Amino acid sequence: MDDMTTANQTPARRPRVFSGMQPSGAFHLGNYLGALKQWVQGQDEKENFFCIVDLHSLTVQQDPAALRQRTREFAAMYLAAGINPDRCSLFIQSHVAAHAEGCWLLNCVTPLGWLQKMTQFKDKAARQESVSAALLDYPVLMAADILLYDANEVPVGEDQKQHVELARNIGERFNHLYGETFAIPEPMIPKVGARIMGLDDASRKMSGSNAHIRGHAVRLLDEPKEIEYVFKRAVTDSHGEIRFSDDPERAGVNNLLGIYKVITGRSEEQVLADFASARGYGDLKMRVAEVVIEELGPIRERYHQLIAEPAELDRLLAIGAERARSVAAPKVREMMEKMGLVVA
Ligand code: TYM
Repeated sequence: MDDMTTANQTPARRPRVFSGMQPSGAFHLGNYLGALKQWVQGQDEKENFFCIVDLHSLTVQQDPAALRQRTREFAAMYLAAGINPDRCSLFIQSHVAAHAEGCWLLNCVTPLGWLQKMTQFKDKAARQESVSAALLDYPVLMAADILLYDANEVPVGEDQKQHVELARNIGERFNHLYGETFAIPEPMIPKVGARIMGLDDASRKMSGSNAHIRGHAVRLLDEPKEIEYVFKRAVTDSHGEIRFSDDPERAGVNNLLGIYKVITGRSEEQVLADFASARGYGDLKMRVAEVVIEELGPIRERYHQLIAEPAELDRLLAIGAERARSVAAPKVREMMEKMGLVVA
């Protein structure tokens, strides 16, 4: 039996990882520290599928030309940050038809009430004048993304935890109704960096949809001068004390220390030791800006090389889509058979 495509037997295979990002809005430091950096760090020990989830972006209206461009830019960004295409299947969601097909089949076993409870749906719907059916259905497509690969691990930031838990519930329900079909995935949320806050307002998470507001986010392609500008203006507090804290009033400083900690990979004690002789928040901001600039410089450089070679990018995406199809298509077929469709 092929251990690549069959769920829940104790497989001899390496843990399988699936994750993705929506190519909506700018790629920012939160995406990088909460998700992409972890994907890169774990890629050697695992079997990885990393996707640019363009179908998810369509749940709110997009400018078609801009969406097409950003989708390819996100692919280049994954590679620039260190995703190794020999170790990972890197692909565009809409290139693998099984995702949309699997979503439909999973819709048929998903109670409406489960979707209406999703906090991201409630937040996003409250901000839209007209809410598409797809916005409500968004987490079912995400469940299809994950379940079709029998992914064991889903590395995401904190804001996606509820969606991964829903994917678990949908997978369990399908297994219960139609027999063992899917591996049940675990969300992998990093201890630090899972929730990077806005630099202009540390009570809101850094987000792509606000990345156009100057000062809110560091975008991955920002030049050093802009990164310095954004950190210089980052909100802090009036306590004047450099320490980690859960106090909402100190969230700005906590956020800066968190960013420094994930990038340098140092412990809390080491981080505090690094700032023991800092003269106030000005020093803290400049040092954090420096480590961010050092981290992003090589990524930006590689990105510009990759995006200048569109044929090579397309070649890698085609290989990734082919590998993804070879896993996802048989799984959809298995679902169809179990659900009673006449499979051609
Ligand atoms: P998306 O595109 O909003 O975000 C991509 C990844 O970045 C993380 N992230 C953050 N982490 C820390 N701090 C922040 N401020 C921050 N902002 C974003 C997100 O948690 C995410 O890991 N629904 C998903 C995309 C998706 C997906 C999937 C993910 C579709 N199918 C299957 C995993 C598996 C989303 O919209 O993420």
